[in-house]
Amino acid sequence: MTGKAGQGNPIIAGGGRRRSSMKWAMFGETTGSWVAIGYNTFKQVARDPRFSSNHFHPNFPSVFPMQRGAARKMQKEWRTYSGMDVPEHTAHRRKVAPEFTARRIAELRPWVQNIVQERLDRLFKGHENVDLKLSFAGPVASEVICGLLGVSGRRIETWIQHSAILLGDGADRSRVASASAEFREDLGRFVAEKDAAPGTDLTSHLIAEYRRESIYCQEQIREFVGAIFLAGFESTASMIALGALTLLDTPEAVRAIASGVPGVTKRVVDELLRFHSIADLVTARVAVDTVEIAGCTILKGDGVVASTAAANRDPSVFTDPDAFDIGRVSRPHVAFGYGPHRCLGEHLARLEIEVALSALFTQFPHLSIADSHPKPEIATSGVFRGLAAPLIVTSKPSEC
Ligand code: HEM
Repeated sequence: MTGKAGQGNPIIAGGGRRRSSMKWAMFGETTGSWVAIGYNTFKQVARDPRFSSNHFHPNFPSVFPMQRGAARKMQKEWRTYSGMDVPEHTAHRRKVAPEFTARRIAELRPWVQNIVQERLDRLFKGHENVDLKLSFAGPVASEVICGLLGVSGRRIETWIQHSAILLGDGADRSRVASASAEFREDLGRFVAEKDAAPGTDLTSHLIAEYRRESIYCQEQIREFVGAIFLAGFESTASMIALGALTLLDTPEAVRAIASGVPGVTKRVVDELLRFHSIADLVTARVAVDTVEIAGCTILKGDGVVASTAAANRDPSVFTDPDAFDIGRVSRPHVAFGYGPHRCLGEHLARLEIEVALSALFTQFPHLSIADSHPKPEIATSGVFRGLAAPLIVTSKPSEC
């Protein structure tokens, strides 16, 4: 099977999971891209250097509405880790990776536990029902990522608002364009402030590192900081909220995550990550050579998107993949991607989700959806899967 970008290939509909692990699909107004829907094909696409992350390429898949037309307006300095290829990508990633190693992140556990505890202590004060994402998952995720980056005060709320627009459904193009411009402008001010008065935060470290090597470019640091915030806030907030929603339906998982036994809580978190695969379509690439994958010829110039959700529900790897099953071995799932672009913040995200959910269900063992409030649907229109409506919970035992 071959696909030719720009020649109007039809969408290959249906076909079942097992027939081919490469499909051709249209994303909005693009000419079409391949979609890898198998576990092994995901890994092949993600690690093969013949698949480029260059967002400037005219056939780079614009999966999300806010990406459409954006590359044409982009400047070279605006690229971040996710838009670079080796060796440039390796050089920049090496400078930031030491801040996100498993060991370094483990040292942050007491700090994250404090943030979570403070939020939990206030959660139901003066309220019988609360919106779990707004009052808990969101604040925990924002305090952590902003604390690391050195962002404080009213700026946090403004960046959260930009994030909601930039990672949302992208329906209102002019809103996306103005949020993008305002965010970039404030990021520039923020980096300049840190440059003038450095602290002990990640932003100051990055500036110092690039200055030490005499390769400092304010615009580039601005983009890296923006990318870390955008990738690190909404994803983790959504995953904590979605995780809570799933656990509310699964008493044995609540008991497991509240047990405090490290191996057990980690296993629940991994199954939540696999099951929800919230960053489903972010692994997008463009072929810079002709590549054979799973019996398909991907032509030079074809766009390719590798689906984490499809890979994580590949029945040849995960038995009964649509079931949420804390007894399974969920790793090595690919919820954090694979290969050189594998998620920079994976250890941080795991830590936050684990600490937040285990403390939440330990402190409030009777947590349930508040009476007369519907169970929210799952939203699929943004960059990350999340809750389509507020998750309103009470800490009182359910009456039924
Ligand atoms: C549940 C939470 C998260 C999920 C599911 C997730 C998922 C992913 C995935 C699938 C990729 C790979 C994209 C690709 O293949 O091109 C990725 C990349 C990335 N993630 Fe995460 N992520 C999460 C949290 C975080 C956090 C907390 C941070 C904060 C540091 C972060 C920062 C990044 C960055 C900077 C990249 C780009 C890496 C590169 O291109 O080298 N993510 N993430």
